This record gives sequence, C-alpha cells and structure tokens, in this order.
Amino acid sequence: MKIGILTGGGDCPGLNAVIRGAVRKSLSLGHEVVGIKNGWRGLLNKNFYTLDHAAISGILHRGGTILGSSRTNLYETGKNYYQQAIDNYKEMGLDALIAIGGEDTLGVAAKLYKDGINVVGVPKTIDNDLSGTDYTFGFDTAVNIATEAIDRLHTTAESHDRVIVVEVMGRHAGWIALHAGLAGGADITLIPEKPFKISEICDVIKARHARGKLFSIVVVSEGAKIHTEDVYDKDGSFVLQNLKKDSFGHVALGGIGNIVAEEIEKETGYETRAVVLGHIQRGGSPTASDRVLGSRFGIKAAELVEAKDFGKMAALRGTKIVAVSLEEAVGTLKIVDDETYNEAQTLFG
Ligand code: F6P
Repeated sequence: MKIGILTGGGDCPGLNAVIRGAVRKSLSLGHEVVGIKNGWRGLLNKNFYTLDHAAISGILHRGGTILGSSRTNLYETGKNYYQQAIDNYKEMGLDALIAIGGEDTLGVAAKLYKDGINVVGVPKTIDNDLSGTDYTFGFDTAVNIATEAIDRLHTTAESHDRVIVVEVMGRHAGWIALHAGLAGGADITLIPEKPFKISEICDVIKARHARGKLFSIVVVSEGAKIHTEDVYDKDGSFVLQNLKKDSFGHVALGGIGNIVAEEIEKETGYETRAVVLGHIQRGGSPTASDRVLGSRFGIKAAELVEAKDFGKMAALRGTKIVAVSLEEAVGTLKIVDDETYNEAQTLFG
C-alpha cells in the first residue's frame, strides 16, 4: 500500500514520535509511506515526499512536526476543497491516509471517510479535549511545562507577597489548568466549565491572608468565563485576543489572566501580576510519557491501515491502545466533569 501521513492543527509535543512509530511499523509491513506537508493544505497542493528510514531518523525527541502543519478546513462552507483533495488522493496513488490531529483535523478525516477515503486518525492536542480516548498525546508535556512555570512563579509570589495569575491554554476545556493547578499547588483554578465570580476568588485570597499566607497563585484557563453578574462579562462570553475566526470558525482566546489580575488587585488591594504562558506550553521536547504514547498511537495507526480498519482512531483506554470510531471521537468535546473538578476544588485555598 501507499500510505500518506499528515499532521494538522496546532503543533504539539509528540507529533514526531507518532510519525516515527507509524512509518517504522508501515515500512516493516512492506508498505510505502509519504509525508504530506502542512496538514490538509498539502493534500490540496499535492505537496508530499517519501518517508523512508532516513527521513524519520533522530526525530523522536524533537518538538513540533517534521511535516509542518496548518489549520486547513477541506469542508469550509462555500469552498470545494474536499473534492480537490479527493481527486489529488487518487492522483497521488494513495491507498490510505493517517491523519494526526485534534477535533478539527479529525473532523475533516471523519467526513473524508464518509466520502470514500481510507482514513485512520491519531488523537493529538495539548487540550486533551477529544472524546473516545482517556488522553491525547501532547497534554502531558503541556501540563509539565505549566507546572514548572507555577513552581517558579511561587518563588516570586512568596518573596514579594504577591498574587500571581497564570493563564494557561486549553481552549474550551479546563484540563491543562486543572492538572497543572493540582500539580503546582495552585490556590484557585478557574476553568471554562465553571464560570466564576471575582468576589469568590477574592474571598479565598483574603482568607489565605487572614491565616498568614500573604501570597496566592491563581491558575486560569484561557477559555474561563467570568460570571455574568461581574463587570467584564455581562453576556457571559469569553475573553478574546481579537475577533478573527479561523477556517473552522474558532476564535482566538486569551487575555483573561490580565483582567482577573486587575480585578483582584482592585478588590483586595494586594499587589497582583499576570503571566500568560501561551505557546511555550506547546513548544520543545515531549515528555517521556508523550513519546511513549505517541509511539504507541503511531504503531496502532499503521496496524489499523494494515487491517483495512478505516474510519477509526487509535485511542488510549486504561493502559491499552484500542480503536474507536472517528465519528465518536469528534462527536462531542470532552470537558472537565463535576467529579474531577470537585476533587481538585478540595485543595483550593
Ligand atoms: O488547540 C491547541 C491550542 O494551543 C489551544 O489551547 C489554543 O487555544 C489554540 O491552540 C491556539 O491556537 P494558535 O496556535 O492558532 O494561536
């Protein structure tokens, strides 16, 4: 078989581990593999090259993706991209595609499968918001980076008796915030799933002061929402970087950390600073755990292709790598459930 591999959406630590796992397994089964450059855009431009052993050598520990990435929606309304992509798939002589991506990239994969293309998926995202899998690769690295940042910020918060608000990524799911908050010992963690009031946060911080804790760390997810009764967010909408939308209709979240910090300082009088971690969370070398998970996902994807079990996504269930339907994976966003949040909340304050 001739198998195409592509990586779509935001880059993520562990992408190269998946590519390496999928290519090595496919080559060992006697297949030919080509790398499609820059996600779905590469399929539109017929931009691809051979992936042999040499091409994937020395990439396991490297961040980003050797294939490049883009946020290209083949099913963008009003455009006919998907038909062109299907024609190119045939013209390129491909027998199967391995798409490595999050809800958007795999959403396109699920549609292409319905349109007759042999696709399998691999769940990538630092946000950990894909259904069907316990974890996505990239999440562990992002949580570790955010945790290290919180540890470092504790030093300054304690030395200067400050409140420090740390804004993390995660889009509409609070997984990164919740896990990094727990691991870093944050005093409050604010997530999109639980709209909050500034007054509630301030009460927690003041109570800490009253018992002699003159510093506080607040972790806020970029998609968190301030309760509608509070000043900044009467409509209950998110804080946005700008009003632009990408081709999947996503807005660019970001900026809530500064607003929260300003409000805390205003209400408590305590010196407060905000730190936005941004793309640092997606950069650099993957953790050992993400290298292992990515490699296992890559191998499973190649096995699914070999078995012609298309329309599936490699997934982690417990400790096992299994196959789930792509449709199930992209059907609903996996957000933080009440039980998990309540557990974390026990350690606030
Ligand atoms: O989905 C991964 C992610 O990093 C989100 O956490 C964040 O909202 C978004 O991508 C940022 O996208 P971009 O890199 O296009 O700014």
